[in-house]
Amino acid sequence: MKIIVAKDYDEMSRKAADFIINFMIEKPQAKFGFATGSTPIGLYEKLAEAEKEGEISFKYSKSVNLDEYIGISKENDQSYQYFMNENLFNKVSFKEGATNLPYAPEADEKYAKEYDELLDKFGKRDIQILGLGPNGHLAFNEPYEKLNRRTSIIKLTDETIEANSRFFANKDEVPKYAISMGMEDVFNANTLVVLANGKNKHEVVKRIIEEDTIYPEFPASFLHLHPNAYLFVDEEAYNG
Ligand code: GLP
Repeated sequence: MKIIVAKDYDEMSRKAADFIINFMIEKPQAKFGFATGSTPIGLYEKLAEAEKEGEISFKYSKSVNLDEYIGISKENDQSYQYFMNENLFNKVSFKEGATNLPYAPEADEKYAKEYDELLDKFGKRDIQILGLGPNGHLAFNEPYEKLNRRTSIIKLTDETIEANSRFFANKDEVPKYAISMGMEDVFNANTLVVLANGKNKHEVVKRIIEEDTIYPEFPASFLHLHPNAYLFVDEEAYNG
């Protein structure tokens, strides 16, 4: 894994954006995997700016997303669909139907199967963007004894409900279930661009760098198995 340390959040977002911009200049028909969460917001802003400046265009790109909450509508401002619309899709020139997110109105595995079919047709992504849960989750692949290979309905851990409650009025409003790509799907990309910033990500970054074992109770440890993973961090996440 290659680790890129930036001085702060803005520089981390800049470095990751430049990496992606350079790739898109070579390959405008790039296939992306996008992530949600607060971490990639700066990156998405910079990508939208780059399109505005005429450096890149998303017109020929397409995308899939990692995950989505279950039990809130797509229009809810906490849904990942809403997040993607606000932070990227409404600002750039993706063609109608070029972007995809999983969606499950209820916790039923049939929606996971549907997304797997979509992923199989979509094929290998060029770049998968990833954030890190403070507990080491990737997408919503939570630390458990076993990790899912393919898209599944996930029962969120208390830790994740707690961590994500900052975006909701209170903890009770955080959905208890989500639909998420499995580990095989997350890794089905030529390049992984993983982002982590701030002190609350120091522990997880430290564990990724220092631990030399790979185990499902720490999904982020599997990043070491990907041949082309880049970890962009700021100094706070790197040094604590
Ligand atoms: C959520 C998402 C993850 C994301 C994580 C970190 O739980 N499912 O894909 O990486 O949060 O979020 P943040 O970037 O806000 O710290």
